[in-house]
Amino acid sequence: MFAIISIWSIVIVLGLVVVHWFACPVGDKRDLSFGGLVRFKVHVLTMFFLGQKLSLVGKLKKLVYMVTLLCFLILFLTGFVPRLICGVPLSGYTLMIHATFAPVFAVCAMIAIVGYAQQCRFTREELDWVVRLTTCKWKGLLCNSALGGKLTFWLGAILILPVALSMISSMYPIFGTHGQEILFELHRYCALVLVLVAICHVYLVMRAKFKVD
Ligand code: HEM
Repeated sequence: MFAIISIWSIVIVLGLVVVHWFACPVGDKRDLSFGGLVRFKVHVLTMFFLGQKLSLVGKLKKLVYMVTLLCFLILFLTGFVPRLICGVPLSGYTLMIHATFAPVFAVCAMIAIVGYAQQCRFTREELDWVVRLTTCKWKGLLCNSALGGKLTFWLGAILILPVALSMISSMYPIFGTHGQEILFELHRYCALVLVLVAICHVYLVMRAKFKVD
């Protein structure tokens, strides 16, 4: 059941991202030629570099953010792939890798959240977005807003708590067998929602970077 829900929800969110990308292009026109696609890929790649213009603090923040994303990718691969592709539970070396990267992820995520909290605070612009939504001024509403990136940032920050705490608490003899089963379910379903939120967040952050560049 978890495998089916995971596959479908990830496919649907990825599909929505692709539809949004084509429905709301960042530039005036989309270059789908070979050269254009190569340029696009190089542009995406350069987003992961530490830019020359960044201050030392900015570089450190971005570095921690990148390590967080890398750890998250490893946790995703080790947590989901055995169940979704091989149909087996997380065990053996995969479990060891998962448990090794988990604390690194938790610590880096906390530092990244503190580092980017100021940048992701809600401002007058987001309030204007809500006003436009409620007053039916919907033209370009889903294309030109930083609200999505900020919302997914805070949602992710909140979701990390149940994901981490469910597993940390189940490592101690606090809850009984049934309690541990519930915590395990809580861990993997919260992890799934976190994956969906992270896909949207990375997409929206990349869109915003494309606009600036
Ligand atoms: C942040 C701290 C984390 C810790 C301490 C942690 C720890 C663990 C442990 C020990 C298990 C095995 C549980 C068992 O078999 O009884 C597990 C399972 C799992 N973890 Fe994590 N994890 C963390 C984060 C994550 C994240 C961020 C993801 C997703 C990206 C994730 C996805 C999963 C999934 C899907 C399973 C279930 C695998 C299965 O169905 O067999 N975990 N985790």
